[in-house]
Formats: sequence, structure tokens, C-alpha cells
Amino acid sequence: MTYTPNPNRYSNMEYRRCGNSGLKLPALSLGLWHNFGHVDVLENSRKILHTAFDAGITHFDLANNYGPPPGSAEENFGRILQQDFRAYRDELIISSKAGYDMWEGPYGNWGSKKYLVASLDQSLQRMGLSYVDIFYHHRPDPETPLEETMAALDLIVRQGKALYIGISNYRPAEAARAIEILRQMGTPCLIHQPKYSMFERWVEEGLLDLLEQEGVGCIPFSPLAQGLLTNKYLHGIPAGSRAAKSHGHLQENDITAEKIAKVQQLNELARQREQSLAQMALAWLLKDPRVTSVLIGASSPEQLTDSLRCLQNTHFSTGELEKIEAILK
Ligand SMILES: NC(=O)c1ccc[n+]([C@@H]2O[C@H](COP(=O)([O-])OP(=O)(O)OC[C@H]3O[C@@H](n4cnc5c(N)ncnc54)[C@H](OP(=O)(O)O)[C@@H]3O)[C@@H](O)[C@H]2O)c1
Repeated sequence: MTYTPNPNRYSNMEYRRCGNSGLKLPALSLGLWHNFGHVDVLENSRKILHTAFDAGITHFDLANNYGPPPGSAEENFGRILQQDFRAYRDELIISSKAGYDMWEGPYGNWGSKKYLVASLDQSLQRMGLSYVDIFYHHRPDPETPLEETMAALDLIVRQGKALYIGISNYRPAEAARAIEILRQMGTPCLIHQPKYSMFERWVEEGLLDLLEQEGVGCIPFSPLAQGLLTNKYLHGIPAGSRAAKSHGHLQENDITAEKIAKVQQLNELARQREQSLAQMALAWLLKDPRVTSVLIGASSPEQLTDSLRCLQNTHFSTGELEKIEAILK
């Protein structure tokens, strides 16, 4: 089957400027952490990517270790890119990262220049690309000097292997230092990728303010708390769900009675707003203009289509916001 993108793909998506940069990102971006590895069905992965691009999602987020096995999401993405998206490379923002375990020995992890440069070369090869649009340091390294890690990111941009760079999982104080070092080097930090959802709100304690002040974009990941913030787990753990998969990162013991009680109340509030809970949870993040894009996952094209409908209502009344706060307390 040959793929022809929807000619109206840009008509229903909102694009938000990423910090003070020249780059705009779609309000929703698609992450390939789960559902794109060699353990998954390639044709399903391919259909998810088609559904995304057809709806105006121009940004696909990867990392060296996504799979399983590690590296396989980039390989599969590379195959689909070659097959279906080759003509559209200039319409895509493709990101990758390095920071977690990737290969054996002392150079396959964390934040040395040795690791970051080699890892991006491997990622480019797996995806069949000459450059990525955004390259991230995936997590802070407590041992490598921040200056070295940031110098590696700067080098990668100067080598033309990434257009922009970002940081992920950095807490406010270390993010502030990284942003400053990068500014001094002349390679501004484009974006920060933190975990942020109704269930995970540390970014509200200083990070969002910092990013706004520094003109850096923000792309929250796991906005649905890996599926918890949907109606999926209201009556147990369904077969095929992330929590049911042996390689899924959502663990059975993450699904506590206390969380489900909150999900039940949130689900009722979403129903009153005529949204699914997934849509309300995404809209709740998008209500903040400091959020550039929300980075979602999906295990089927239908799920992605459901999530995309969040864009139809991202407004919350004061009363609704207060109710959400009361439920989350
Ligand atoms: N920088 C980092 O350290 C880091 C860490 C984690 C993730 N990320 C990035 O963030 C991306 C998104 O993370 P995530 O996959 O955890 O995001 P998420 O959106 O919180 O969770 C996605 C999962 O939620 C379920 N879901 C999605 N839409 C749904 C809907 N409309 N209705 C019901 N269930 C729905 C699906 O679960 P089922 O599979 O059970 O159907 C799906 O796989 C990743 O792919 C990756 O790019 C970055």
C-alpha cells in the first residue's frame, strides 16, 4: 500500500512557537517510546504514523534506547520514513536523545562527549538520516561536568548533525545552569522535556517559570501518565494494555486504588465537559501557554484520533479547574 498524506493536514492543528526560537511545534507531538519496537507489529506502527501526519502532527520523538530491543524504534521509524515520508522530510521535526543505557562499557550511558557524539551517529544510521532536528541529553549526569555535556551538544549542532538541542528530566537549578552554559556557547537551548501530567506536577514548582523567563520551550511527556489518565484501567487491567505487557513501563503496582478513585472522579468531570478523560487530561496541559507541545503515545490509530479531539476544547472554567484541584489533592 502506498501512502498519500491528507492534503488538508495543516488545517486543524495548532502550531505553537517553541520558546523564543524560530521553530513552531504542533500542539500534540507523537512519541515512539512504546509501540514501535521489534516486539510490536510494524504495520500498526506505520498506521499510527500516517494518522499522526494526516492530522498535522509534524513532530516525532525518539531516543537511542526506544524499543525493545533498544534501537529498534529508530530502525522501524527509519524504515517507515524511507517507505512513506521520504518526500516529506522537510515537513518533519524528528528528535532523538541519549542518556540512558545503550551499549556495554563505560561509554554507553550518561553524559560524556564520547557517548553523546557516538550515540547520535548510531541513531542517524538507524534512521537513515543525515541530521535530526532536535537532539536531547536524556537525563542529567551526576558525574560528568555539565560543561562537557553541553559542549557535546554544541559540537553536534556545529557538526550539522542536529539543528537544535534540548535537555530532558533536568530539575530547575541544573536546567538553569545548562541553559546559561549553552547560551554562552552560542547554541541556545531550544526545549526542555519533563514528565508532566495531572499526576506528576513538579514542573509547576519553578521549572515552567524558568523556561518562560529564559525563552525555552516545554514539551511534557507521559501526559496521560502512561494510560492511567484514561478510562482504560477503571475496571482492572485490560489485555494488551501497557500495564499488561511484560515490556511495558507502567507497572501493575502503579495502578493503586487511590489513583483509580481519582481517575473515576476525573472521568465524570470529563464526561460533563463532553470529552474523554484522555482528551481532558491533554487539554488541561495545553491550557498553559508555556507548554509548547504535549508529547503523547498511542498504541493504535484510533487511540491517537481520540486524543487529537482534545484540541476541540482546551478551555477550562475556574469552577472546573477548582474541581480538578480538589480531586487531585
Ligand atoms: N524524556 C524522557 O525521559 C521520556 C520518558 C518517557 C516518555 N517520553 C516521551 O514521551 C512520549 C509519550 O510517553 P507515553 O507513551 O508514556 O505517553 P502517554 O500519552 O502518557 O501514554 C500513552 C499510552 O496511553 C494510552 N492511551 C493513549 N491515548 C489514549 C486514549 N485516547 N484513550 C485511552 N488510552 C490512551 C495508551 O496505552 P496502551 O498502550 O495501554 O493502549 C498509550 O500507549 C514517549 O513516546 C516518548 O517520546 C520521554
